[in-house]
Amino acid sequence: MQEPQQQHQDHGGHEDQDKEYVGFATLPNQVHRKSVKKGFDFTLMVAGESGLGKSTLVNSLFLTDLYKDRKLLNAEERITQTVEITKHTVDIEEKGVKLKLTIVDTPGFGDAIDNTECWKSVADYIDQQFEQYFRDESGLNRKNIQDNRVHCCLYFISPFGHGLRPLDVEFMKALHEKVNIVPVLAKADTLTPTEVQKKKIKIREEIEQYGIKIYQFPDCDSDEDEEFKQQDLELKESIPFAVIGSNTVVEAKGKRVRGRLYPWGIVEVENSAHCDFVKLRNMLVRTHMQDLKDVTRETHYENYRAQCIQSMTRMVVKERNRNKLTRESGTDFPIPMGPAVSESETEKLIREKDEEVQHANHEQESHHDQEHEAPHNSEHSEPDQEKH
Ligand code: GTP
Repeated sequence: MQEPQQQHQDHGGHEDQDKEYVGFATLPNQVHRKSVKKGFDFTLMVAGESGLGKSTLVNSLFLTDLYKDRKLLNAEERITQTVEITKHTVDIEEKGVKLKLTIVDTPGFGDAIDNTECWKSVADYIDQQFEQYFRDESGLNRKNIQDNRVHCCLYFISPFGHGLRPLDVEFMKALHEKVNIVPVLAKADTLTPTEVQKKKIKIREEIEQYGIKIYQFPDCDSDEDEEFKQQDLELKESIPFAVIGSNTVVEAKGKRVRGRLYPWGIVEVENSAHCDFVKLRNMLVRTHMQDLKDVTRETHYENYRAQCIQSMTRMVVKERNRNKLTRESGTDFPIPMGPAVSESETEKLIREKDEEVQHANHEQESHHDQEHEAPHNSEHSEPDQEKH
């Protein structure tokens, strides 16, 4: 009879507090711990006209030499022309957080006499990654799927043109339903600040005019503080980000910085008075990486998946009709007879997929419950121990 009293006394001091605090406020910490343990991945693609500094910029972005394997020409010009789609993966770690970064460098277009459909290989590459993911997701082992889907494509715009070129419009429109496009104004050191501003406005207008759907920064919540809202506005007005890339470290005002050395001075890549490099990097890494991944998963991949299922359905229905026709006409050939497929089999396929997803969710939930049962039990075991 004394035990419950004892128990009551033990917790008495915190009773009111305990009533209000169930513990789910720790959920973000649990998610945090789990994702830090698992690590993060991110795939960034660069595309655009040849020689605009794509390879140089990605090398500058993550402070790592992604092109070590390439033949060195000299320290400054070490990056050679990209002639095929190349993928570089680096594992970087910062304060215990691991990031598996994949850079997909695409060959610049514009050099060939005929540039029609120069976007085709890039679009195919993006689709192949979706296809692979779709296959893996439909397979038996769905636990450790390698996600190679492209989360963001930096599209380089020439600083020498008057806004967008027809090829830019064609290229971006061919990709905009497949990937998050972030336009950048290349080699900004070749323009004066006024020219940069004028070009940005013109490019933004043209993007609107041609109906190009670039990546949209999510709207700020109304309860965000003023500073955050201001940063968000600045970010939106920075489009296309004016960037400068460099593979060399130079000395400026006694400090060693990544920059470009000219007879008239030094252009610093990470100086926000000189370009938007830091803004772009912050957006990609600090503020919007997760959103870029979410949009890839929820919009671009979902579109691909829906199209896949639709075309599978169409194929099955076509096959069924073909079989029906063959049977009715009494001719077996020239149409090869496949197994008789009915529309309900398509439905079955889709249902099976849904069941698979539900099953996986169930498994995840029960796994989650098990994980949380342990501390729950130990809490209850304390009074038990007291009893004994
Ligand atoms: P492709 O491989 O043909 O697609 O070229 P790319 O777009 O990858 O260009 P890359 O990085 O190879 O750079 C081409 C040339 O431009 C090199 O000589 C670079 O040093 C130079 N370059 C790169 N970034 C900048 C920049 O921001 N400003 C200036 N002025 N030159 C740059």
